[in-house]
Amino acid sequence: MKVFVSRIIPEVGMKRLLDAGLEVVQWKEKRNMEPQEFIDACKQCDALLSAGGKIDSHFLNECKHLKVISLHSVGFDSVDVDEATRLKIPIGNTPGVLSGTTADTAFLLMLSASRKAFYQHSRILKDEWKFFEPTADLGIELHHKTIGVYGLGSIGYEMAKRCVAMYNMKVIYHNRNNNLEAERELNAEKVSFDDLLEQSDVLSVHVPLSQETRGKFDKTVFSKMKPSSIFINTARGAIHNEEDLLQALEEGKIWGAGLDVTNPEPMRADNPLLTMPTVAVLPHIGSATVETRNAMSLRAVENVIAGLKGKRLPYPVNPEVYEIF
Ligand code: DGY
Repeated sequence: MKVFVSRIIPEVGMKRLLDAGLEVVQWKEKRNMEPQEFIDACKQCDALLSAGGKIDSHFLNECKHLKVISLHSVGFDSVDVDEATRLKIPIGNTPGVLSGTTADTAFLLMLSASRKAFYQHSRILKDEWKFFEPTADLGIELHHKTIGVYGLGSIGYEMAKRCVAMYNMKVIYHNRNNNLEAERELNAEKVSFDDLLEQSDVLSVHVPLSQETRGKFDKTVFSKMKPSSIFINTARGAIHNEEDLLQALEEGKIWGAGLDVTNPEPMRADNPLLTMPTVAVLPHIGSATVETRNAMSLRAVENVIAGLKGKRLPYPVNPEVYEIF
């Protein structure tokens, strides 16, 4: 059996694939594959382990022979899941293992934006650290402020936990369902979306990208937030409208922003957000630690191995495929 691996993944994952007796074909170039190249490569294989690349309806229909498509991510917005399900292709992802690491990134961005850390660093690079001014470029404190979590699943929970442990912040959240553990352990309070906007000092996004969340944070939404608030997005860039975000910052509708995901990605170097003192931007590195990426690769490989054996994936995105087999 042959597996196509669409990026360089951690060695532990590669080793597990080879130990399972699988033949591995790997894309090692540091450029995105053209859609047809991707299809042609997958046509030669039985499974795909994907760490990048759009898996749309055209791809799926060209590659409907694939026994499993295993994502090296928890997010699955790169896949047309409905079409994969219709074609009975199981899709796997890597939930759980990256929650703490991604929450660390959200926390890092919150703190960096609140203390203008990236901007202050850039001043040193530009040789602007000349003279001490007690009132210049002051940040704002986070102690006892309110953290609003949009999507209190496992990553949102880890972020809220850090905010309580470090700054004794009050936790409010907006979800479809109640998160009873967060209510019990963190005294979190479920609120309406508008209340989340109006009450949060820091609003951190932890929902998946979906029809409901795409473009959710636009001009209207930013204008309902506190002028002193910080917007954090470590989920998906398409959840916010970046021109509206820039305008909200320029007009003082919100105070700062921390982004690990941008809209579009990659962000261009001349993006005005990069020079704003209260903005911190990272290049989508939410889960980028050795430990987490190793764990993600092992989960992704477990999905590949199970899928090739015709077994239920341990981490399925579309378990419905098993109802119609
Ligand atoms: C994920 O796992 O979804 C990360 O954002 C990487 O894409």
